Parts: sequence; C-alpha cells; structure tokens
Amino acid sequence: MSDTALQFGNRELVLVSNREPYVHERVDGEIQVVRPTGGLTSALDPMMANTGGTWVAWGSGDGDDEMSDENGCVRVPPESPSYDLKRVSLTDEQVQNYYYGYSNQVLWPMCHSDTAKMTPKPEFWEHYRETNEHFADAIREQVDPSEAVIWFQDYHFALAPRRIREECPDAFCMQFWHIPWPSWDVLQSCPEYEELLDGLLANDLLGFHTDRYCENFLDCVERAFDAEVDHEAGWVRYEGRTIQVESFPLGIDAAERRQLAGSSEADDAWESLRETYALDADRLAVGVDRLDYTKGIEQRLAALERLWEKYPERRETFTYVQKASESRSQIDDYQRVKENVTSEVERINDRFGTATWQPIVYIDDHLSPVTLAALYRESDMVLVSSLRDGMNLVAKEFVASQVDDPGVLVLSELVGAHEALGEWAITVHPNDTEAFADSIEEALEMDESERATRMEPLRASVEENDIEAWKNSVLQSASKVLSRKETTAQRDTTGTTTEYTNE
Ligand code: F6P
Repeated sequence: MSDTALQFGNRELVLVSNREPYVHERVDGEIQVVRPTGGLTSALDPMMANTGGTWVAWGSGDGDDEMSDENGCVRVPPESPSYDLKRVSLTDEQVQNYYYGYSNQVLWPMCHSDTAKMTPKPEFWEHYRETNEHFADAIREQVDPSEAVIWFQDYHFALAPRRIREECPDAFCMQFWHIPWPSWDVLQSCPEYEELLDGLLANDLLGFHTDRYCENFLDCVERAFDAEVDHEAGWVRYEGRTIQVESFPLGIDAAERRQLAGSSEADDAWESLRETYALDADRLAVGVDRLDYTKGIEQRLAALERLWEKYPERRETFTYVQKASESRSQIDDYQRVKENVTSEVERINDRFGTATWQPIVYIDDHLSPVTLAALYRESDMVLVSSLRDGMNLVAKEFVASQVDDPGVLVLSELVGAHEALGEWAITVHPNDTEAFADSIEEALEMDESERATRMEPLRASVEENDIEAWKNSVLQSASKVLSRKETTAQRDTTGTTTEYTNE
C-alpha cells in the first residue's frame, strides 16, 4: 500500500513527536534549517510530504519562533512545502521536567527495566502531565480530532491521548511506543503506573516493536484494571472502548543504506576515515551508540579487554572502532557513562597499545551517512551489546551495509532486533564477559562461507521488513481499526450491538 492509498476517508493525518523533522537553528547569526540525522523523523517526513497533514512537535530550535507564523506553524519540507509543521513552545522548566525529568529519568529507565536509575520527583510528573496537556491542546487548536487520525510517537506522550479523548470522544488516536514495555513487577515500581496505562488506553491502536512488549502491556492492564483482555487477538476492552494492541517491528531504509555503502562516495569516505584515524589493522569491529547506559558500552569494553588478554595474537591485528554520540548529557547518569567510557578506552589503550597500534579508536565527531555506511561495510563485525533496547537499528544498518565481503552480527539477546535476527547472529549476553570475548573471537575466526550463509537471511529480513513495510503495516492496521470503530458507532446509534473480533 502506498502512502497515498491511506484509507482514512476525509480524516487528516496528524503526527505528534517530541523531536521535530526540521529545526531552525541560528548559526553565525544566520538562521539555517537543520535536519536531525537518521531516525524516525527523517523516515516519516516523506510519508507526511506524500499525504499532507500536520506534524506537531516541540519547537526546540532557537530560530523556530522567528520562522513560524502566529500559530507556530511553518510549511515544510522547505524545498517543496506540502505539510504543516506546528511547533509547540516549551519553557526551560518544562524541558527540564518533562523531557530530561519524567521522560528520561523515570519512563526511560523503567521501560529499560533499570529501576535503580528511576528518580521520580513530584515536579517531573507535574510537568509531564501539564506538557502532555499542552501538546493535546496544541493539536486541538490545529485540527478537529473527530476529523483526524492522530498518531503519537513514543514515551513522551503517554497522557496526551487521554486529554484528547476527554475533550473529543470521537477522536481516532494511535500510538507507537519506541522503547520496550516492561513486565508488571517493573511497571509497579513507577508510582504513576495507573495513570500511564489509563492514558495509553485512550488510544484506539497501540503499537510496540515486539510480541513480548505487547504481551507485557496486556498483562499489566489485566493486573491493574478490571478490563477484559484477549491475549490471542491482542485487544483490551476498557471503560466501554476497545483498544487494539499489536506489534510492528521498526525497520530502516535498507535500500538507501545498501546504495550508500556500495557508492564510490563510500570508497572515498572510507579512505579519508582510514587515514584520519589510522585504521590500518587487518581486522575491525565497530560499535555505534548514543552514550546511554542501556547500550552496554562498558560491558562491551570489558569483553574486548578480556579478548586482548586471552588471545594475545589479536593485539596489533584487530581494532575496535567506537562511534559515540553525546546524548541527554544534562542528566548525571549520562555524564557518568561518557566519563566511564572515555576513561576505560584510555585505560585499555594504555594497557595494550603499542607505538604502531591503538586497540580502540574512539570517534565522537559527527560522521555523515555515507562515512558511516563505509565504516560498517569495512568492518568485520558489529558489536551490539545493549542491556535492553526496544529494537536497535544499528544491527539493521550494519546488515544493510554488507555489500561485499560479509561481516558478522554480534548481537545481545536483550534487544528487540534479536527476535527476528538472532537466529543468524552470534548471540551474546552483555554481562557474561568471558563468553562475550569468546564470541568476538568466534566471529574473527568465522570463514567466508559461513559468514555469507548467515548474512543472506539477515539481509533478506532487513530488506523485507524495512521502514516502508513498518509504516504500511501500522497504517493498514489503523485503517482497519478505524473502519471497525466507525461501523460499530453506526450500529450503536441504530441500537444493534457488535462483537469485537480481530480478523
Ligand atoms: O529510542 C527512542 C528514542 O526516542 C528514539 O526515537 C530517538 O532516536 C532516541 O531515543 C534519542 O532520543 P532523544 O530525542 O532523547 O535524543
């Protein structure tokens, strides 16, 4: 199904995310448009350009206000405007408490099952609630929810659907939760678990990356509320409404990655990267991460240290490249990850490095998409060692970039991507340092025929389940749920009752 074949009748599509697809930033006194690299915003922008509609997001750029009209709107994409971007202004206090606070110091650690890092504070919750209402009100200012399909993205908006529903019972709301959904025991550690579940149940369709997260969510609803739950069919009957809960594994633009990796620009980019960082070892491994404690970077470094200790022949011949991006660094736990990672890299390099070889090359400069594709292509393996991860798209990007000599996917069993790719990866547990080190050695020893045998199904899976397939299956489900809802509403007005089934 193409984007234009959306079956939403006259309803307008309204996408809601924390990050905006186009940011107006002041650079040397001039306002420039900056596009956040990769990720969801760049994947959903072509869909919005195709369908039209409105994208509502936090206006985070210092030039955003100036470039928007009195309603906070600007037509985008700048080169051929086709949809409205409505920017929601947030005060510093809201950003501190809603984004850095509740979203990233309560929901993020909780959903990644790291309850010790949760720091619930009344002001975090207060502002999260208020900011969700603020977003919901901004949506209602822009469209009539009963004539729209409102698609919320992610954990920043657990309460906004409820606010919309209270004001407009006929609204059609859906949400995709981009991070894991935890088990009931973990969810209970959050004082506001009932309000969070109640907010999400104001949606008509709720999506997660994997069946496991759906199952966790349904289990939480069943334990928290007097709700009817059908685990098989994936729906909840709550306060007289039916909510469909379904898994939609997020993918990447695999064709674009493949094309980039095979381009002559990638050859040039690789030459320049190799020279800049002296990447001359025979064998290379790569890791690409935001500096986040969920990514298991410290655990990965411990495994690498053990490898060079246990297999001394890998010294001088094997280098690990860590591409790291700063993230949420106003939060202490994130600062600590950055400090620990950089000091561990230094210590390991001091321990094993020689005059001609550096074991770990740490890159925190921005790398262009083509340079990243070249780095993936030239690496013998990628190391993904998250302690928890909703999906992990680095694994998929690496696979899509293997256009010649195939590399090996070394993958933590604790990431969403393991559900589909684990069978052909080398599976590791990030906390089992000894076995992790042996797995890296196994990947280094693997012959070409086995690497090719594993890479073929990996590539097929990543190409088939790409970002386009993800969008299409979410939108297809949404259109089914919407038409069922409309039929039910019609029958209800004529006094006929209907049974909800998931055909
Ligand atoms: O994985 C969840 C997510 O929100 C992604 O959508 C995003 O790329 C990443 O975390 C970074 O988040 P932030 O917007 O906090 O930098």
